[in-house]
Amino acid sequence: MNSKTLYSDFLIIGSGIAGLVFAIKVSELGLVHIVTKKKDTDSNTNYAQGGIASVLSPEDSFQSHIHDTLVAGAGLCNEEAVKILVGNGPQRISELVSWGTKFSMKRDKNGREIFDLGREGGHSKNRIVHAKDLTGQEIERALLEKISHISNIKIFEDHTAIDLLTEHQLGKDGIGSSKTCFGAYILENATGAVHTFIAPITMLATGGIGQIYLHTTNPEIATGDGIAMAYRAGALIADMEFIQFHPTSLYREGKSGRSFLISEAVRGEGAILTTIKGKRFMEGVHPMKELAPRDIVARTIDSELKKSGDKYVLLDISFKGEKFLRERFPTIYQKCLEEGIDIAKEPIPVVPAAHYLCGGIVTDTFGRSSIRNLFVSGETACTGVHGANRLASNSLLEGIVFSHRAAEYVFAHKNLIVSENAMPNFPCWNKEGTFDLEEWILIQHNKEDVKRLMWDYVGIVRSNLRLQRAQRRIRIIAEEIYDYYRRSTITPELVELRNLVTVAELIIESALQRKESRGLHYNINYPSSKEEFLVNIILQANSQSIFKKHCDIHINW
Ligand code: FAD
Ligand code: SIN
Repeated sequence: MNSKTLYSDFLIIGSGIAGLVFAIKVSELGLVHIVTKKKDTDSNTNYAQGGIASVLSPEDSFQSHIHDTLVAGAGLCNEEAVKILVGNGPQRISELVSWGTKFSMKRDKNGREIFDLGREGGHSKNRIVHAKDLTGQEIERALLEKISHISNIKIFEDHTAIDLLTEHQLGKDGIGSSKTCFGAYILENATGAVHTFIAPITMLATGGIGQIYLHTTNPEIATGDGIAMAYRAGALIADMEFIQFHPTSLYREGKSGRSFLISEAVRGEGAILTTIKGKRFMEGVHPMKELAPRDIVARTIDSELKKSGDKYVLLDISFKGEKFLRERFPTIYQKCLEEGIDIAKEPIPVVPAAHYLCGGIVTDTFGRSSIRNLFVSGETACTGVHGANRLASNSLLEGIVFSHRAAEYVFAHKNLIVSENAMPNFPCWNKEGTFDLEEWILIQHNKEDVKRLMWDYVGIVRSNLRLQRAQRRIRIIAEEIYDYYRRSTITPELVELRNLVTVAELIIESALQRKESRGLHYNINYPSSKEEFLVNIILQANSQSIFKKHCDIHINW
């Protein structure tokens, strides 16, 4: 196996919206390497349906979008980051359009072409710009198309990042020390060779963690790799207890694999939720009924299912008629038809599924992590904008806004880009191991065990007993996986399994520490919120957890 050392000015790990936007921007300053563990389009971004939230209508205002975001976040948002998110939205949307993204448009009463703005849960105005129900795919297409014309960007598909290259370095003032990132060890999936990718600036944009749960809307890539890598390297990790369950994924009896999402935009167009017997259960629960924030809708469905013993609830949009549904939701219409459901004639069976991680690697409002020269953006980051619950369609926005801000920071600090000879020498990857097929088959079963354990014990409704049980079990599973990792040949599946179990441990640990209920974290032993927990829970390897507001964390490099 031929291991190489490759140098670039920027190493970007991940080819979703966050990684690609950063790549386009910084490519003006030097050579960019993007590594991505499957094909370039394999990302959560590619599956995004509903759209991007932004203030684009004269009837809307920044204050209203900020207010809705803070309300959903249940007291834990970093308000400064939220203002930046919302205030930058319109410009970033225009930029996506100028790069070739085609959003759905309509005519206003004067015949002018305007964005066709949709509505989603927790939003008090129509502000979701979308491309029918395939928004993410359209954005990903436009970004990759743009990148294909930029000679400074090279994409390495089927390359899996294993670990970050870090070194302790003296602080700027000569006192104290902090860690600096210089790139990553990257596994070439096809050959098994591990290459050393060196760069003065690294951007982690590895997306979410949905695959830790048995039922998820996320594709297979969502195994939390970036968070686990950064945690091992010593970065601060926050808000891991806040896992968002999307209320409406398509229920399919006996089928496994990714749960197909029925976009919240369907409820935005007026769809109603009922039990199988026809009870409209969101009435009386929240003034916004079906369009209440996601945590409330998902928990109410969970409770209805537990009360009735049913396997699903029903979502009815049939009254909109076939013509409208085919045009507005072509993918959902078609997918449901393939599953034997004509949504223009009958309701859709739906269940909640793990969808989004609000927490992640702590960053400031320029995407800087607590490790020098390591930027983080997108779902892997915890910028503080989501707090205890993300407002629908704020995450694609977060990816573009904070990747843009990270690029702005680099433009203002070009001295960060240093030449190859100024970089430390890192040894080639030297982990040796053997491959034992039988043992690997057994170890792989651990993946299913983790997914079921997280679903059963660390799901929508939690309790002390379930969390403690989950922690005891996950420790045993983790030890087996870490032991196998130390002894074995490295493979992409093993990299993911090791990361998946680390992230599961972080989620359970944070959930145990939050002794209250807030936003997406609901523990029956502490059913209400407590003033003393108006703080973010921050984890760091080999240290005690820190209870601190996100806005009080200062990144100083
Ligand atoms: P991703 O788009 O997930 O990209 C991560 C990239 O990192 C991938 O290329 C992956 O292969 C790569 N990667 C991961 N680990 C490694 C590794 N070890 N080595 C190399 N590469 C690696 N949000 C909205 O705002 N609006 C919506 O309408 C919306 N709809 C959604 C619908 C669905 C079904 C899903 C699943 C999510 C939806 N979301 C939506 C959430 C949103 O899509 C994501 O939060 C967002 O796309 C994340 O972008 P990202 O760039 O951070 O990560
Ligand atoms: C959806 O279309 O319902 C997903 C929106 C989101 O996750 O923000």
